[in-house]
Amino acid sequence: MTKTIRSVKGTRDFYPCNMIVHNWLYEHIRRVSNSYGFQQWDGPVLETIELYAAKSGDELVKEQAFVFEDRGGSFITLRPELTPSLARMVAKNRNSLNMPLRWWSFGRFWRYERPQKGRAREFFQWNLDLIGSNSIRADAEVASIAAQFFYSIGFVPKDIVIKVNNRQFMEKIISDLGVLDNQFDIVFRLIDRVDKMSSEKWMQYASDVGLKDVQINKLHNELCKVDQWRDSEELSQFFEFTEMMGTRQWFEFDPKVVRGLDYYTGIVFEARDRKLHHRALLGGGRYDNLVSDMGGDAISGTGFAMGDVVIKLLVEEFGLLPDINTSNTDILITIFEEDLISYSYEVASELRKYNFAVEVYPDIVKLKKQLKYADRQNIAIVLVLGPDEIANSMVTVKKLSDGSQTNILLADLPEVLRTMLESE
Ligand code: HAM
Repeated sequence: MTKTIRSVKGTRDFYPCNMIVHNWLYEHIRRVSNSYGFQQWDGPVLETIELYAAKSGDELVKEQAFVFEDRGGSFITLRPELTPSLARMVAKNRNSLNMPLRWWSFGRFWRYERPQKGRAREFFQWNLDLIGSNSIRADAEVASIAAQFFYSIGFVPKDIVIKVNNRQFMEKIISDLGVLDNQFDIVFRLIDRVDKMSSEKWMQYASDVGLKDVQINKLHNELCKVDQWRDSEELSQFFEFTEMMGTRQWFEFDPKVVRGLDYYTGIVFEARDRKLHHRALLGGGRYDNLVSDMGGDAISGTGFAMGDVVIKLLVEEFGLLPDINTSNTDILITIFEEDLISYSYEVASELRKYNFAVEVYPDIVKLKKQLKYADRQNIAIVLVLGPDEIANSMVTVKKLSDGSQTNILLADLPEVLRTMLESE
């Protein structure tokens, strides 16, 4: 017996019914991004590991990146995220690019994570970034675009929350606890895990990274205060601007959100379903130094990325997917016998000139079987071209939704089909 060949762990197969959902999502992403004047761009899926080593953080580089040696002996990475490629491309062409840049992208990414609900090893991300503005308005606008996207697919603020914080503000809080500058990244990683671990494990982790009991307790205390954003000018401005942009009700301050990537320097945010059943829908924030780290000028950016996995789970859970026909075909032309096949193909070509999507059944089989196929495929109309029809320059038109059947003159066919399809 031949062995079944399995797909690679953590990858997903996209059957046509999955592509429909995928394209529906993409279409909303494209529309929302364009409506705020963002331009589409992309980078290569292969990059060097050094690109991420600069600032993405140890977890992404050492544990999650898919790295392989190419035939020339270079170490190549399948991109785990897009922001470093963006910074590299901006640094490279800084003089010819018209700042501020408003760029969006949609593509595949790879991370060697443990596959689980909401996490895959191969996934898609929508990235949207605004580069070359230091204003908190830029942060508020990109985060508002995320909110507008959720709204466009049918969510409201009682379904999804976008949790916001500011890394500089948190740096001040943790330095007041006696944490040294060179330990900030470690403590941010610790804060990032507070909701992802049990309380005991988290306390142990905190002690393992060198915090004293009194610091751990104070930090835990700080992470429960939900009103302290008023002490941060940037956070106050952020909330004020989202008010101005009409999206304020989607946002909430959360001191526990600091984000896992090392390059963030200011406002950070993460979207979650309100019930917190799923992992983050999207995450992002301000990065001041990434472009200069790639050898460019000091240009600040802000943006976010949303994966396609959790959002699809949530869309399904909320029943937000519209009823989309799984077939692209308007009309199926059946075939009758060998001698008449060329006639079927001729009619199909003619109808395509009128912009109908037409398929011809490829095999000579019983009409019943061809009709059954059309029915299962959700094709609205079937044409039967038998010897009698051809002799009279006629076609039999079957409407599958009600089983009705009419004989139509070939010359009248486009008009009749148009009317029939419009009424479907
Ligand atoms: P990130 O938080 O690493 O940020 O990823 C952003 C989003 O990508 C996550 O919220 C999640 O939806 C999705 N994602 C990440 N890993 C996986 C996975 N293994 N399976 C499924 N989905 C996943 C970044 O990537 C930053 N570069 C975002 C950014 C853009 N910041 C500024 N601009």
